[in-house]
Amino acid sequence: RKRFLTGIKPSGDVHIGNYFGAIKPCIDLSKDVQNEVILMCADWHGLTNRAEIMRPGQLSHPLIALLLALGYNIKENSIILQSDFPQIQENSWYLSCATAAGLLERSHAYKDAIANGKVPTASLLFYPSLMSSDIITFDSQFVPVGKDQAQHLEYASDMAKLFNNLVGVDVYIAPQGVIQETPTLIGTDGERKMSKSYNNILPVFATKKELEKCVKEIKTDSKGLNDPKDPNSCVIFQIFKSFASDDAIAYMKEKLEKGVGYGYGHAKKDFVDEHEKVFGSHRERYEYYCNNFNEVKKLLEPGYEKARSYADNVTKRARQAFGLKSYL
Ligand code: TYM
Repeated sequence: RKRFLTGIKPSGDVHIGNYFGAIKPCIDLSKDVQNEVILMCADWHGLTNRAEIMRPGQLSHPLIALLLALGYNIKENSIILQSDFPQIQENSWYLSCATAAGLLERSHAYKDAIANGKVPTASLLFYPSLMSSDIITFDSQFVPVGKDQAQHLEYASDMAKLFNNLVGVDVYIAPQGVIQETPTLIGTDGERKMSKSYNNILPVFATKKELEKCVKEIKTDSKGLNDPKDPNSCVIFQIFKSFASDDAIAYMKEKLEKGVGYGYGHAKKDFVDEHEKVFGSHRERYEYYCNNFNEVKKLLEPGYEKARSYADNVTKRARQAFGLKSYL
């Protein structure tokens, strides 16, 4: 089986950008028996920004509940919590021992933080090392992600190769990114990618009222009720087409293009209705999983066992390659 791994930071409301960039592709992959998928809730990554240190412990469970509720095939695959696997930290250290500091300093996230006058934590500098380790610790071959993670995937492959060159043995598998071809999903402001840090998100599981409030924020131009509208520059449509059914997409496209009697208010109403259709039916299961930790734990156990054996195996290989010995 081909082994896929991807990670998502537990940062509160999971939004349609995450759904479209990572969750949906992984759920689809998990349904094909030829694949083995490991989905990681990256709680350590949620600690790198001091201003944002939220409560990854409390936020992880809703993320896992969401993945299960939306139909991730947990019987044949795994969902793991990053902080349950100390082997990741160990391999992250080995990777960073093979990597020039300058390479990490060139990370976009690190450079952006400095350019914006922030004082980045050392953990932000090591972010690519930790993320590379998430991948190589489980011998993963493929990493499905959104476009914004492209640089991180280059790091993963480069750092694995640097390590292998250093020790002269192929200890780590250099992974391949499976990067979404479609651009990163835009946020409700119509300017930046949808991201919790930009306060421009549409949550996957929101009550209708909450959703209506967010949808109201979606930026529109000044075209009137009967003006033809270009779907490609309409932010409502751009977000809509990332989750709506093919029929609903075709319907809204036609209505916007014709324009007659179809204003942005109508598009927003159709948006809310379709969101309810696609996600609403899973909300009950989501709430059930949120409130039944022990049951979720049982579902995750077989995948945990498998992941642990991969991680132990890889870490042993890395220790051997460095000639590290144990007294135990
Ligand atoms: P994170 O938590 O920011 O996002 C999780 C996934 O969602 C995708 N994504 C988007 N896709 C399209 N449009 C958007 N607006 C959008 N926003 C987010 C991201 O591309 C990502 O695939 N560093 C990673 C998490 C991580 C990871 C890993 C990923 C930790 N370890 C190992 C892969 C492998 C991150 O911050 O993603």
